[in-house]
Amino acid sequence: MTDTKHKPLCFSGMQPTNSLHIGNYLGALKNWVKLQDQMTCVYCVVDLHALTQESGYAQPAELTRSIREVTAAYIACGVDPTRVILFNQSQVPEHAELAWVFNCVARIGWLDRMTQFKEKSGKHKERASVGLYTYPVLMAADILLYKGTHVPVGEDQRQHLELARDIAQKFNNDFHAPNFFPQPEPVITGPGTRVMSLRDGTKKMSKSDESDFSRINLTDDADAIAQKIRKARTDPLPLPAHKDELKDRPEAENLLNIYAALADQDRDTVIAQFAGQQFSGFKQALADL
Ligand code: AMP
Ligand code: TRP
Repeated sequence: MTDTKHKPLCFSGMQPTNSLHIGNYLGALKNWVKLQDQMTCVYCVVDLHALTQESGYAQPAELTRSIREVTAAYIACGVDPTRVILFNQSQVPEHAELAWVFNCVARIGWLDRMTQFKEKSGKHKERASVGLYTYPVLMAADILLYKGTHVPVGEDQRQHLELARDIAQKFNNDFHAPNFFPQPEPVITGPGTRVMSLRDGTKKMSKSDESDFSRINLTDDADAIAQKIRKARTDPLPLPAHKDELKDRPEAENLLNIYAALADQDRDTVIAQFAGQQFSGFKQALADL
């Protein structure tokens, strides 16, 4: 249901840990830039969230460097600091304050369903930090502090946004304040909402993958990008002529999606363009793009 009472406001953020990759760009940043023309936008470097990761927690100097690097990457990708509000989370103490209130609104049963916590905590859940567990509550506070209505993110954040909606609704009900908080809408669009690893088309491209060949970093130069694409895993078949033939070909599907997202074309157009060709030629075209 679209919210009519609340003024449109776009909020999003990324953790300053390691460097950003094209998954972050195609899944999220590209939409951040588009939304700048449509509504008030508030973009945040979520440094408090980064404390839930070993790299953010254990190396304060590295965290400081990463905050600058991620901020620079936002701007390099087209976020315009003269038109949007751009800041880091820890400079605004109200994020943590509202997160505490929301910790008292959210139910343990809701957080127990979060797949990202399950993945990140692994086999030893009892040794994970409490911060990692309540991470999505802080994310809800980030958005709702500004009464955010639109949240451009990648597919992996959908479940966290549903939690933010549940928290907003329970707060409104519990305090008899219908519509106090809006129901934030995820903005998850385009062929790049879930970019996969270049080494394994069934795994998400991620900042934390051990192999640097699994991702294209925004800081990679043209030669590194070309080399990574050349080495990207594929299968022995030529490129398909129809999307139905992409079934069980995750690497082919991923490279075609990346091409479509970068070229701003729909995937069927890209499939038609390269139908029946060998990967070598397609990879060259992709690297050039
Ligand atoms: P993170 O790298 O987890 O801090 O994510 C920052 C933003 O990038 C979030 O909106 C994610 O949903 C998005 N994102 C991260 N990895 C990917 C990926 N492989 N494909 C598409 N979007 C992604
Ligand atoms: N959880 C998001 C991620 O890992 C980062 C994030 C924190 C965020 N707060 C947010 C995204 C608020 C959108 C809105 O990518």
